[in-house]
Amino acid sequence: MFERPHGGERAVLVSLCFPSRDAAGGGSEPDEALREFRELAVSAAAEPVGTVTGRRKAPESRFFVGSGKAEEIRQQVQATGAEVVLFNHALTPSQERNLERLLECRVLDRTGLILDIFAQRARTHEGKLQVELAQLKHLSTRLIRGWTHLERQKGGIGLRGPGETQLETDRRLIGERMRQIHRRLQRVERQREQGRRGRKRAELPTLSLVGYTNAGKSTLFNRLTDAEVFAADQLFATLDPTLRRIAMGPERRPAVLADTVGFIRDLPHDLVAAFRSTLQETRDADVLLHVVDAASAQRDETIVQVNRVLAEIEAEGVPQLLVYNKIDLLSDAVPRLDRDADGRPWRVWLSAVDGRGIDLLHVALGELFAHARVTRRVRLPAAATRLRARFYALGAVRRETTSERGESLLEVEMDRREWDTLVRHEDMNGVVWTERDGQTVDMDSTEADQYLAATAQAP
Ligand code: GTP
Repeated sequence: MFERPHGGERAVLVSLCFPSRDAAGGGSEPDEALREFRELAVSAAAEPVGTVTGRRKAPESRFFVGSGKAEEIRQQVQATGAEVVLFNHALTPSQERNLERLLECRVLDRTGLILDIFAQRARTHEGKLQVELAQLKHLSTRLIRGWTHLERQKGGIGLRGPGETQLETDRRLIGERMRQIHRRLQRVERQREQGRRGRKRAELPTLSLVGYTNAGKSTLFNRLTDAEVFAADQLFATLDPTLRRIAMGPERRPAVLADTVGFIRDLPHDLVAAFRSTLQETRDADVLLHVVDAASAQRDETIVQVNRVLAEIEAEGVPQLLVYNKIDLLSDAVPRLDRDADGRPWRVWLSAVDGRGIDLLHVALGELFAHARVTRRVRLPAAATRLRARFYALGAVRRETTSERGESLLEVEMDRREWDTLVRHEDMNGVVWTERDGQTVDMDSTEADQYLAATAQAP
């Protein structure tokens, strides 16, 4: 149903600069906006054969650009034999139509281009559905408005021509397909929700990789999981979160790692909305690994852009660890762990490609999750064999002695959430983990030690 750029489609790129309200670059340099736009175009398998740039105060309603600039584009299209003109801006349906008529070739705006790239990259069933829905939405506004536009031209009732009937049919088909996708998506989202609940029950800490597109998320994901996830030097190589179990921290404790979509400046709002449920993993993560291409001249700018998208999906409150990747490309960088004023891990310098610094990442993660760990002393009646086995199964037992009365005295260490789940779900009757004057209280470790010393039989 969609015309999509095929391999090597010749394209003229148009990227204007709006000094007052920089529509293309989100406040960045025009050169950088253009460079990135070119990468986007190449990602969509276009072959840039010409570029038109310029400055404007505001978009013009008819062609988006002024008529002089439109003529310049037309000449470029003729001179280069371009098959498509790509705009680094959002165009209205009528601007797109006017331009196509003038230029006599296909015109795609930035949203259409990003959608096309998303369509090529989506790997999971859910991702594919989300892209198709977003594409249909983009298309339907264009069809519907095109139709009303034609209706006005033809004077409306009684003048329905075959072209218009076709449009109506298209519109109905699109509407049906959108409803069908909606239903399927709801089903997939329910399944995803169940998976998420399952993980919560298993109480595994969850990490989510975020970062500007091409920062090296997939490469790091592979490095941490040894999984073969498609990593390519293309924008948006990753579109769907891919979840894997990893061994995290110096102690290699189990955790879940999610690889997410690459962010990009000016990600159209509709697209962020379309990928909301996929991005939910990011919101639910315990820690975000914010991967940055440390060798990029725009690294600070990309961090700002990523944080902007994170705010949009309400994930700005999730703790972040910055991962400055690609240090192999920097002459003066060595693997390093930087800490904030409180001594908390803040930034790790590493290379996902050659593996240097990965050990420091594990150190940082171990520390970040350590605060979420609790140490408890428990005294189990001899009959509580199931609970004792549970502690061992969790790998939580640090020390065990036996009291005179045959009780197990355990020192256990585990995630706070794991502990809370145990207390909620296990039969703790007769089990004492801290006790004072017959009351169960949370003792600090010195108190608990004294308590243990008083009740335990020396091993
Ligand atoms: P998107 O899917 O577009 O968001 O990209 P990504 O962040 O997942 O990046 P990906 O892992 O696909 O890596 C992008 C490019 O950077 C690939 O060519 C990688 O080989 C390269 N790359 C990743 N990590 C490193 C690194 O540590 N050093 C060097 N030199 N290149 C790296």
